[in-house]
Amino acid sequence: MILKDKTILIANISGKRSTGWAIAQSLSKQGAKVAYTYQNERFGNEVRKLFEPLDSIDVGECDVTSDDDIDKLFERLGNNVDALDGLIHTPAFAKEEDLANGFINTSRDGFKLALDISCYSLIALSRRALPLMEVRGGAVIALTYLGGERAVKNYNVMGVAKAALESSIRYLAVDLGPKNIRANAISAGPMRTLAARGLKDFMVMYDDMKEKAPMKRNITTNEVADTASFLCSDLASGITGEILHVDAGYHAVGV
Ligand SMILES: NC(=O)c1ccc[n+]([C@@H]2O[C@H](COP(=O)([O-])OP(=O)(O)OC[C@H]3O[C@@H](n4cnc5c(N)ncnc54)[C@H](O)[C@@H]3O)[C@@H](O)[C@H]2O)c1
Repeated sequence: MILKDKTILIANISGKRSTGWAIAQSLSKQGAKVAYTYQNERFGNEVRKLFEPLDSIDVGECDVTSDDDIDKLFERLGNNVDALDGLIHTPAFAKEEDLANGFINTSRDGFKLALDISCYSLIALSRRALPLMEVRGGAVIALTYLGGERAVKNYNVMGVAKAALESSIRYLAVDLGPKNIRANAISAGPMRTLAARGLKDFMVMYDDMKEKAPMKRNITTNEVADTASFLCSDLASGITGEILHVDAGYHAVGV
């Protein structure tokens, strides 16, 4: 019960196969109350049902491209809690054509949209979370992928967005550190979720990991989830500005 008496917001969750839902279950198992959001009602029904058995708060829908939505989200959260101990950021999106047609053909609109949803949202959410998080201190966690550090085939503009996200984690760590709020990212290996299905040749990335990673296997959303619980807990009290790889060691090997 390393998260007993902590309240943690997951923004957001898409359904039962999402990394967000795996994280929610791990946080809950460790004693946390979990507040959750979803992009819109297309996801709301399924997500609310999943949370029925858990000690949780439904904070409603939030499209992270809308400042108004984010303001209202934290207004609703503030009506339910006096303090927040953790913020988990999951949104990521890029247009299908920008993932499939070669990085050099990335459109201006597609670039802006991918960076807005996949990176700027972390800054926008963290800023709104600050008044509740500075009450007791806390942890901000984002999810990233190796394609932010290296050129991975077909990851394209999403790789650039993840590089910006990882850099944002370091700058947030600097801004938030004096308030005893830590900012870290988990760099997860390929997992078979909804978002992953949008990536051309995802199974090539997935199978390559099994072949080349030191542990000779893929990772599960549960392994990422338990790492998120650790990073939210006081066991990680000295860790900030870190990009922690949960990828069976894939990032560490060369040829
Ligand atoms: N699946 C993988 O292989 C993998 C590997 C490494 C990192 N990640 C990262 O993990 C995170 C979660 O991804 P996932 O694989 O669990 O899939 P997912 O589809 O569950 O997560 C993506 C989320 O982005 C949200 N989103 C998209 N546009 C939005 C908008 N305008 N407003 C609000 N939310 C919006 C979706 O609702 C969804 O909840 C992502 O950041 C992803 O890049 C995934």
